[in-house]
Amino acid sequence: MISELEQNAKLEEAQHYLRDQVGLSPELGIILGSGLGSFADLIEEKIAIPYQEIPHFPVSTVEGHAGQWVFGKVDGLPIVVMQGRFHYYEGYAMHEVTFPIRVMQGLGVKGLLVTNAAGGINPEFRSGDLILIKDHINMMGDNPLRGANLSSFGPRFPDLSEGYDPEWRQKALAIMPNYGIRPQEGVYAAMSGPNYETPAEIRFLRTIGADMVGMSTVPEVLVANHGGMRVLGISCVTNMAAGILPQKLNHAEVMETADRVTKQFVSFVRGLVKEL
Ligand code: HPA
Repeated sequence: MISELEQNAKLEEAQHYLRDQVGLSPELGIILGSGLGSFADLIEEKIAIPYQEIPHFPVSTVEGHAGQWVFGKVDGLPIVVMQGRFHYYEGYAMHEVTFPIRVMQGLGVKGLLVTNAAGGINPEFRSGDLILIKDHINMMGDNPLRGANLSSFGPRFPDLSEGYDPEWRQKALAIMPNYGIRPQEGVYAAMSGPNYETPAEIRFLRTIGADMVGMSTVPEVLVANHGGMRVLGISCVTNMAAGILPQKLNHAEVMETADRVTKQFVSFVRGLVKEL
């Protein structure tokens, strides 16, 4: 277990390094999920910083995750984009998975847009759908807020009744049709992975109210909420979850679908950045 003092010292170093490298103060943070990294291409005045250069950052290992922060502007708004995230299934501790969110908070970022690839559980969904996350269920069996509370960021027992900002969700739903996206919301269940779920697990998740399933996002969203950030989440349904259709699942299919919708996704996220 890492102490509050040690965690704060590490954060301080990472923030110090980034402030030296980057002139601007980002207002919005964006996490780009599997296969959705190309949004970074439309950032202006770009400064890319690979994770291995940032003090105390873990290094991302998964295919399809570039592993860098890109600072810059989109339509005049200063942002920081995480191209590639850290997953619990890679073996990182929860405080490592969420370290970048704390760094963002320290840099003054007030809002977080999280994206991910997910399996569709709700039978209304189709592979390739972009779904707004309205709430989540933490099935990872761990929590990044466990251990010493970082009291400078937030309370011991944070409220999660509006974990995904209602006003931002309304704005997002309102513009989805402009990008040819059916306005749909769903509850995201986070599993630790790395295996895709069994059909029995998917039936269970459906019963408890999940609409999609993935292996990320929830740790970052918990830490973002703890630190008082506003959060918006989008899942790209890259496949229907196990047992929903007579099919087997694989990472190649996930990446293919993410690739297929990447243009639509990028223009939607650009539209969101204007609205938020
Ligand atoms: N399950 C879990 N995570 C995922 C899936 C899935 O079906 N698809 C993409 N990420």
